Amino acid sequence: MGTTQVTQQKNNSMPRHIAIIMDGNGRWAQKRNLPRLFGHKAGAKTVEKVLKLVVKNKIRYLTLYAFSTENWKRPKEEVEGLFDLLKSYLANKSSELKKNDIRLRFAGRIESLPEKLRLFMEKVENDTSHCKTLDLILCINYGGRQEIIDAVKKLLNMNPPNVDESLFRSCLYLPDVPDPDLVIRTSGEVRLSNFLLWQSSYAEFFFTETLWPDFSEKDFNEALESYAKRQRRYGSI
Ligand code: FPP
Repeated sequence: MGTTQVTQQKNNSMPRHIAIIMDGNGRWAQKRNLPRLFGHKAGAKTVEKVLKLVVKNKIRYLTLYAFSTENWKRPKEEVEGLFDLLKSYLANKSSELKKNDIRLRFAGRIESLPEKLRLFMEKVENDTSHCKTLDLILCINYGGRQEIIDAVKKLLNMNPPNVDESLFRSCLYLPDVPDPDLVIRTSGEVRLSNFLLWQSSYAEFFFTETLWPDFSEKDFNEALESYAKRQRRYGSI
């Protein structure tokens, strides 16, 4: 796929691909004197709401940062709780996703995840592989630097005579997925945290103070309105 095709979407007021750093679950729970895992559970409900908004707005790709390569540093019970939450999210998800023509895909170092979780992931991925209305991409055990290193390893194995942008891109986890047009981060943090480093080169960013479990249709619409006002020049004038 040509670089221009996958990286640039000029003069379009709606993003084709939205990527979200769903931050603030822990603080949401702490504010209520609840264990952090309750925040993640509330965050999973927000995922459902946002999915509906994305379908309603005919967005073609949605990428969600669900577990980073750095999240292994969290207490064992939080990591296991997050994996359990993902498993229960994925269990019995196929029919609903198929009904809405949503293809569920994953990005990250999937091979290092617990086998039980991987089986759930593989099942939903296979069951929905023919769906075409929306690609929902969950980044699990994902790191942008790790993705770049994994791409370099693939390139070394290919031993190509020359490396250009398009060949490099073909070695990323999901080479057919276009770059995100809009990256949203909740909870007031203003950083990328190793998310889609290669792909975000020309993304527009929207930051909100809202904690992810509280992220509402109003916040979503604000992000879209803000995006619609941006002038994307990709280095030109
Ligand atoms: C960041 O908040 C959030 C995560 C590390 C996990 C995100 C997971 C979910 C939203 C739920 C599961 C997802 C799906 C797709 C069902 P944080 O814990 O860093 O919050 P804090 O900064 O307030 O501590």
